[in-house]
Amino acid sequence: MKDLRKQDYLGVTSSSEDGDIHNNDAYLFLGNCPAHRYEAIITDPPYAIGIAGKDWDCKELQIDVLAYQFHRVLKPGGNVFVFCSDFQFGTWYRELSRYFTKLRKYAWCKPDSVGYNKGMFQESFELGLHACSDDSYFDMGNYYKNHTVTGKTSGKERIMPDPDEEWTKGKGSKALHPTQKSLKVIKDLVTALSKEGDTILDPFSGTGTLGVAAKQLGRKFEMVEYGFRNHIAAWDRILGKQV
Ligand SMILES: C[S@@+](CC[C@H](N)C(=O)[O-])C[C@H]1O[C@@H](n2cnc3c(N)ncnc32)[C@H](O)[C@@H]1O
Repeated sequence: MKDLRKQDYLGVTSSSEDGDIHNNDAYLFLGNCPAHRYEAIITDPPYAIGIAGKDWDCKELQIDVLAYQFHRVLKPGGNVFVFCSDFQFGTWYRELSRYFTKLRKYAWCKPDSVGYNKGMFQESFELGLHACSDDSYFDMGNYYKNHTVTGKTSGKERIMPDPDEEWTKGKGSKALHPTQKSLKVIKDLVTALSKEGDTILDPFSGTGTLGVAAKQLGRKFEMVEYGFRNHIAAWDRILGKQV
């Protein structure tokens, strides 16, 4: 049996009428993508902090390239939202402000978050950044503060690996993905930043939380993820096997 963590399925796409997941590299996908295609980009790229030694989270992001491509593939009046680490926030802010006139920081607040270090404040939120233009869509039907409060993604919502996968043997009950986002947080962002029928891109889609939120809210999704296991888990979620 193949180890599905390996990136040897590049080019495979899973398609449905609600949207697609491309097993691809985000930079390659964006480079080949026609201009002005999406109403919104809502994404959670690697934080480049090497969580638990995961090699996918050690590589420096090319934030200048991503900001340029996000602006290029977005329709005029579209919205960009990125989650980011403390180190990346300033770079994202600087690079996105080359193309977008309005930027606002955002926090996913987690009262139950872990990461207590003696002698320091308890870590309790993750940063995001919203970038848009003067004429960008925003859901005026609701009032939004620049944060959403939920518990950390845990319990039933957490996607577990397929027990039949060879590599999971002996790994106990560890979740499939260490940075799966809360569905409520992503649904709030989708509602605020897009209309029904819009197409939303997530070029770093992990377990596909953006696609699940988009489908539930009547939006289309286009997701890109180079880890095949994540791709398969995300597709199962989209098909309703796990939410
Ligand atoms: C922070 S996680 C996204 C988690 C997602 N929001 C969720 O709820 O599951 C970032 C994802 O980007 C993927 N990734 C990293 N670099 C990539 C690249 N160059 N192209 C495509 N996917 C990439 C990683 O495999 C990882 O699953």
